[in-house]
Amino acid sequence: MEKQDYISEQIDSLDQREPVIEIRDLHKSFGDNHVLNGFSMTLYKGENLVVMGKSGSGKSVMIKCLVGLIQPDSGFLSVMGKEIKTLDRKTLDALRSDIGFLFQGSALYDSMTVRENLEFPMRRHKEKLGNIRDTTPLVLEALENVGLAHTVDLMPSELSGGMKRRVALARTLILKPKIILYDEPTSGLDPITSKEIIQLMGRVQKKYGTSSLIITHDVDCARVISERMVLLVEGKNYIEGSYTELSKSTDPKVEAFFKK
Ligand SMILES: Nc1ncnc2c1ncn2[C@@H]1O[C@H](COP(=O)(O)OP(=O)(O)OP(=O)(O)O)[C@@H](O)[C@H]1O
Ligand SMILES: [Mg+2]
Repeated sequence: MEKQDYISEQIDSLDQREPVIEIRDLHKSFGDNHVLNGFSMTLYKGENLVVMGKSGSGKSVMIKCLVGLIQPDSGFLSVMGKEIKTLDRKTLDALRSDIGFLFQGSALYDSMTVRENLEFPMRRHKEKLGNIRDTTPLVLEALENVGLAHTVDLMPSELSGGMKRRVALARTLILKPKIILYDEPTSGLDPITSKEIIQLMGRVQKKYGTSSLIITHDVDCARVISERMVLLVEGKNYIEGSYTELSKSTDPKVEAFFKK
């Protein structure tokens, strides 16, 4: 094939990718703190996209704008073709049931058992699941995905940090989301547990064909899981590329992320 044909074929195949999340020119300030200053990115169907940024750079703010937990000052946000700010409460809620959000930390309800934690989103999104009499099979299926079916009747206080994170992932999976947003999935975990969580994320993506947006400052996590990366620097999408491309960059702002 001629080089020119090859290139246009590559461009065609890029155009055919279906965006599931689009963020354009997002701005958000808290008083004088201009956190997001025109951040843009696209998540395509089925991909693992990693957004890396320093602590305090606005990664969590960005993800919260996306699910309507924080109101942005300006910018375009759409999820699966629906522009967030045009949605009424009910439509936003329905859309949220298609988005799994693994919060920073595990955010399990401490006063509820593992089972009750998993039942919680099912009750909230009844419309999506229909009338389910017995939640046990779904709860156990979700827990089996993370290898923790045996913890169903335990309290969060009886679990290790890594187990809590896995239960939180199971809780996210219970609604069979099309998109999963991971906010620092490995933070606070030791390297071996981190690796287990990363492998689990990979398995989930393969099994359910989900698209994943992974927020992290864990370079190892990014190396293993990312197909594409976006670096968030000074409120903007500073650079985008594969791990291999970015890790070879000689731009000091990019190098800073990869220095150990
Ligand atoms: N609700 C809020 N009110 C005021 N300021 C906020 C609020 N939420 C976040 N911020 C500020 O926005 C900035 C970005 O916060 P954010 O939590 O998005 O950082 P991050 O990139 O997720 O950091 P980390 O890696 O530590 O999680 C910080 O300066 C923070 O203090
Ligand atoms: Mg954060």
